[in-house]
Amino acid sequence: MDSHIRCIDAGSEYCPCFLSETGDCIVCSHLHGNDFCDCNWCGTCIFNEFYWNGLQMKKSRGSILSRIVDHQFIHRDLILLTLQVPQSMCRALIQPGSYVILRNPEKPSYFDTPISVMEVSEEKSQITVILQEIGAKTKSLLASEKEVLLKGPYWNGIIGLEHLKNLKNKKVLIIARGIAQAPAVPVIKYLHKNKNNIMLILDPGNIQSVFIEKYINLWNLEPIIMDVRSEAGLSHVKNLLQHNEFSLIFSSGSDLLHQDLLQIAKDQEKNIAFSMTNNREICCGEGVCGACSVFAKDGKVLKVCKVQTFVEEILQGGTVHG
Ligand SMILES: Cc1cc2nc3c(=O)[nH]c(=O)nc-3n(C[C@H](O)[C@H](O)[C@H](O)COP(=O)(O)OP(=O)(O)OC[C@H]3O[C@@H](n4cnc5c(N)ncnc54)[C@H](O)[C@@H]3O)c2cc1C
Ligand code: FES
Repeated sequence: MDSHIRCIDAGSEYCPCFLSETGDCIVCSHLHGNDFCDCNWCGTCIFNEFYWNGLQMKKSRGSILSRIVDHQFIHRDLILLTLQVPQSMCRALIQPGSYVILRNPEKPSYFDTPISVMEVSEEKSQITVILQEIGAKTKSLLASEKEVLLKGPYWNGIIGLEHLKNLKNKKVLIIARGIAQAPAVPVIKYLHKNKNNIMLILDPGNIQSVFIEKYINLWNLEPIIMDVRSEAGLSHVKNLLQHNEFSLIFSSGSDLLHQDLLQIAKDQEKNIAFSMTNNREICCGEGVCGACSVFAKDGKVLKVCKVQTFVEEILQGGTVHG
């Protein structure tokens, strides 16, 4: 297997998954029918797990009915939903990059909608998400007043997660734009817990709203509010990178934002780590349907609902989202 390819589910209670049974595991060469092992050891031997599980996958994620505890319009087409979930689901959705797949219970499975978890309350066993009403899936989801179908937990909402996980006592630049302010909240919380010094830029983006201040006010950050993709915004970021020693940039927004920031970071030649939100179109979340596929530089297909790899592989291989 390629040394930079990892599977977000490897070693979890959902591994081995469907792909193990069809010879398509992202990580394990034995499960591809090879005699040799060249996996990126992730603390668990997936082949061993498969063998001891009777040569079959472990359980897959099922859907549950989740009660809507709160449903509020917070700005024009932006809706906050607070959902009651089991304790175990709550705990599994704490880490940065967590998302769930939501659907109006009266609709068929092709209305499944991936939505980032913005906040988790373990005490109340609730999660909070922010939904932007756009097309058929999100409109139908919002028509559901009492409960939604919820599938999860899913974790690959961020590419470059290992950069976040290893970071302690460092300086970090977080830039969050539009609806992607929501997935930035758990990132800010996590990096703050690890005593990193966070500089935060919030950009209202297309939704023309900054909505996470209330969720991050515990941490005494002083966000700069600006249009990052304007000429002035990009030159401000350039200036910040020139005059500060950042260990990580976290870009939360569209692929266009990611590309702009990655280019500016590279131009600095300071070897700054880069993580970003995953903007691929996700349907099954299980590496099966192919909706999230991108072509890597070597022509291999990467299922980005599961794969962790270099951010460049995803940005260069994928469709650009506006
Ligand atoms: C990991 C992840 C986390 C997300 N978190 C949030 C969130 O917290 N809040 C939020 O409002 N939106 C979030 N989204 C985007 C949300 O899933 C899409 O806006 C939604 O699926 C659009 O569906 P639609 O039918 O309403 O609109 P459409 O008219 O079908 O699509 C509108 C836009 O959404 C994109 N889109 C459509 N289907 C998908 C899909 N299955 N996966 C990803 N993008 C899609 C399209 O490319 C298009 O750009 C997230 C997407 C991903 C992949
Ligand atoms: S969303 Fe189905 S394969 Fe990734």
